[in-house]
Amino acid sequence: MQQSRRDFIRKSSLLAGSLPLLAGFNPLMADEIARAARSVEHLTPQQAARDEDFWYQVQRAFRQSPHFTNLENGYFSPQPLEVMEQQFDNIKLVNEQSSYYMRKRQEDDKQAVKEQLAAFAGVSADEIVITRNTTEALNIVIMGLDMQAGDEAVMTDQDYGSMLEAFAMRAQRFGIKNKIISLPLHPKSDEEIVEAYEKAITKKTKVILVTHLINLTGQVLPARKIADMAHSHGVEVIVDAAHSFAHLDYRIPDLDCDYFGASLHKWLCCPLGAGILFMKKDKIAKTWPLFGDTGQPVDSIRKFEHIGTHPVSTNLTIAAAIKFHNSIGSQRKQERLRYLKSYWVNQVKDLPGVIINTPFEKERSSALANFSIADMKPDEIADYLYRKHKIFTVGINRTAVQGVRVTPHLYTTLADLDKLVAAIKELAA
Ligand SMILES: Cc1ncc(COP(=O)(O)O)c(C=O)c1O
Repeated sequence: MQQSRRDFIRKSSLLAGSLPLLAGFNPLMADEIARAARSVEHLTPQQAARDEDFWYQVQRAFRQSPHFTNLENGYFSPQPLEVMEQQFDNIKLVNEQSSYYMRKRQEDDKQAVKEQLAAFAGVSADEIVITRNTTEALNIVIMGLDMQAGDEAVMTDQDYGSMLEAFAMRAQRFGIKNKIISLPLHPKSDEEIVEAYEKAITKKTKVILVTHLINLTGQVLPARKIADMAHSHGVEVIVDAAHSFAHLDYRIPDLDCDYFGASLHKWLCCPLGAGILFMKKDKIAKTWPLFGDTGQPVDSIRKFEHIGTHPVSTNLTIAAAIKFHNSIGSQRKQERLRYLKSYWVNQVKDLPGVIINTPFEKERSSALANFSIADMKPDEIADYLYRKHKIFTVGINRTAVQGVRVTPHLYTTLADLDKLVAAIKELAA
């Protein structure tokens, strides 16, 4: 009898001695979590965030290295085992049918997934493209924007390096002008942020780049308020949602932005190499594709899809990741991630020498937070945490912020965070 891959995974993990993390794993994991979620249905999302029995079920959907504690989940998210298993199945399907699959089935299957992703994001399938990541999605936008020499773009010194570089390249090549503003690490109000952008707008400003959830510190910007202000000046808005998509509880239309890019391998827990580009319908015709495409109508979103042969199995697996996400629920997920962040931050924020570089107000951050310790370099702190305690974090060294970024995930336990708190106390002393 042919051995199923699931049996194979179980047996190989037995050999690897990692059975406890796989115990109870079966292909209906998302269904099991959805069933477990019924036990927290009567709770508010904030109360459910503290129900360790429920989150224990969610933790068991992931398998993590037992050799260190990963508190650097900002780079990308591990997939739940069920999603990874679905990816293997999809790889097998595409490989078995090879060019027959690519010629006869690929387009229909990808369109079906695209429709699911569009519904999840609250938009229509003819406004989105499945890209390989945020970098690709936003390079399509930044390089394709309808801008002439002398036109201006506004961004901040806390935006992601690749986006700043894409704008810098556009400036070098086509003569646009970039205005880079600074934002406070601890804003007093949304208005303070909105005003900082507004002050940089001139008659020549065409576009503003807004990082919805800043990767350096975890600060969440009031993207909708910035968009409303920008639109009142006739300025378009690009949202870099690499970290906010499937992390904060919102749908794309809530932000009313013109262009939007996110990575699905971050908080949606898709396989590496999946992203989304959204563009408002009336912006499509005037935006140039990054890869040559004259075959599609100029006002079709499909003109941005032309990247050549690529691993379709990754696109197909997005469906399993959405199912997993929905088994928990967007609000519960957001509140749990916020709770994990507050759990450690609240225990260290008043220690002498410890500085928290992330806003404290609930709606201004979520899973990610950044701390520093007086007279220590970020890399020294991160090295110490790993060397002494096998806690993996990342040192952030940007002009706008220096500190260590800590990013728990759905599989993070309170015991993991207790270890971090003890280590920070040790360092601060
Ligand atoms: C704010 C922000 N934008 C864009 C990116 C780029 O994401 P990717 O490498 O998946 O394209 C990142 C990655 O961490 C990010 O934090």
